[in-house]
Amino acid sequence: MALKIIEHGSPEYAKMVKLRNEILRKPLGLQFSDDELAKEINDILIGAFDDEDILACCMLTQESKEKVRLRQMAVLNNLQGKGIGATMMNFAENVARDRGFHVMSMHARKSAVGFYEKLGYKISSDEFEEVTIPHYEMQKKLR
Ligand SMILES: CC(C)(COP(=O)(O)OP(=O)(O)OC[C@H]1O[C@@H](n2cnc3c(N)ncnc32)[C@H](O)[C@@H]1OP(=O)(O)O)[C@@H](O)C(=O)NCCC(=O)NCCS
Repeated sequence: MALKIIEHGSPEYAKMVKLRNEILRKPLGLQFSDDELAKEINDILIGAFDDEDILACCMLTQESKEKVRLRQMAVLNNLQGKGIGATMMNFAENVARDRGFHVMSMHARKSAVGFYEKLGYKISSDEFEEVTIPHYEMQKKLR
């Protein structure tokens, strides 16, 4: 498995959006708008690949000089629970550290809170609703 940073608008980006739609949006009856995708141009886009095939993805959005937000974390359904998500999180944290960020946060789906807790993230908000389902903000110091 190769972890890499993806360029916005590239063929790899198209694969990433397809994966995100399949895993994160379609099950909720939602899809991405062109506007929403255009706003990702300045984000750090990360993919896990097996040759040409995308297995997992996530992205980092700068929130402030010190804080970066992880978004759109998704692993192919049939590959979940095999360590790919944790490996990709480790890569994303290293990328964030290299770029000088001190804190990583995310809006974690309630169903994924246990995954982030295993990686050292702590809940930092009350429960709230996003894309129709319950979420918590979680965060961790990177250094
Ligand atoms: C949540 C998700 C990203 C985790 O990635 P993954 O590759 O399946 O997770 P890993 O195999 O790396 O798991 C790492 C550890 O977290 C645990 N874990 C994984 N998913 C979990 C979950 N939803 N709840 C609690 N623990 C979880 C694993 O059991 C494993 O524990 P271990 O170290 O004791 O063996 C992935 O399952 C996924 O894409 N789910 C659907 C979309 C989603 O919910 N995305 C997150 C949006 S915030």
